Amino acid sequence: MEDSNIPVATLNNGIRMPWVGFGTWRLHDGEDAYRAVRHAIAAGYRSFDTAMIYGNEKSLGRAIKDSGISRDQFFITTKLWNDDIRKKNALKAIDLSLEKLQLDFVDLYLVHWPIEGRFVDVWSDMEEIYRSGKAKAIGVSNYMIVHLEELLPAAKITPAINQVEYHPRLQQSDLYDFCKVHNIQLEAWSPLMKGETLSNPTILKIAKKHHKTTAQVLIRWDFQKEVITIPKSGNQKHIVENIGVFDFELDPNDMADIAAMDQNTRVGEDPYHVYF
Ligand SMILES: NC(=O)c1ccc[n+]([C@@H]2O[C@H](COP(=O)([O-])OP(=O)(O)OC[C@H]3O[C@@H](n4cnc5c(N)ncnc54)[C@H](OP(=O)(O)O)[C@@H]3O)[C@@H](O)[C@H]2O)c1
Repeated sequence: MEDSNIPVATLNNGIRMPWVGFGTWRLHDGEDAYRAVRHAIAAGYRSFDTAMIYGNEKSLGRAIKDSGISRDQFFITTKLWNDDIRKKNALKAIDLSLEKLQLDFVDLYLVHWPIEGRFVDVWSDMEEIYRSGKAKAIGVSNYMIVHLEELLPAAKITPAINQVEYHPRLQQSDLYDFCKVHNIQLEAWSPLMKGETLSNPTILKIAKKHHKTTAQVLIRWDFQKEVITIPKSGNQKHIVENIGVFDFELDPNDMADIAAMDQNTRVGEDPYHVYF
C-alpha cells in the first residue's frame, strides 16, 4: 500500500489497513462492479470491501488482476455469509471466496452477522482460517457489546475489526468505547447513511465552511474518530471525491456539532435480530 496516499491504520496483529476503503455492496457482478473498482483503483483506493453475499467477488478479483498493481498494494476484505455460519461451512466458504477473487489469501475475513447460537462457535473456524494463512486478519461484523462479551472469553485471537453501521445518526458510543478498550478496530459501514446524511443542514454548514462536500465531511469525521470507513459509489465523480479527505481538518466545534446529531437511528438491519 506504499504507493497510495491514503493513511493506514495498524490492526491489533500488526497488519496495516487503509483508513478509507471502497464499499462494493449493490455493485452488480460484471461491468458495473468491474468498472467502479477500476475507477477506484485509478483514484488511489487500495482497500476493497466485498462479501460472498454481494455476489461481486469475481468482478473485484478481475479488476484487481487487470490493474497490474502488485497484490501487496491491496487490502481485500470479504465476509462469511450467514448460511455458511449456520451450516458450519466456513472452511469451504473461504476457499470459494478466494477462488472467485483469484487470490491466495484475503487481508481480512469477517463473520458477516452474529447468528444466534453460532456467533461464538464460528470463531474457532475463523481462527483456523487465520492460522492457515488464507486471511491475514480476522474479524467480526455487526457484533454488539453483548456478542463481544460472550465471544472474547472464548477467543484465542481477538477480532482485529468490528465492522458495524456507523454514521452521525448512529454513533454507538458504548460500542465505540468497548472496542477501543479491547483493541478491536471499529470500521464503519453505510458511513454516508446510504446517502441520507448528505443533505443534513449541520453537515452542509460544516462542508461550506471547509469548501468541501458533505460526503467528504462525513468521511473525514470517521478518520478523525479513528474509525475505518468504506463509502460505496458507482459514480466516478463521487469515487474521486470520497478520498479527497486528507487535506482539511474538522475543528472541535465541527466535531461537537456532529456528536450532537446522534439519534440511535439505523438504516440497515438490526444486529440483535438476525433472521436472514
Ligand atoms: N457488514 C455489513 O453488514 C455491511 C452492511 C452494509 C454495507 N456494508 C459495506 O459498507 C459499504 C458502504 O455502505 P453502503 O453502500 O450501505 O452506503 P454508503 O456508503 O453510506 O452510501 C452509498 C450511497 O451514497 C451515494 N454516494 C456515495 N458517495 C457520494 C457522494 N460523494 N455524493 C453523493 N452521493 C454519494 C452512493 O450513490 P452513487 O453510487 O451514485 O455514488 C450510494 O447511493 C457497502 O458498500 C459495503 O461494502 C457492510
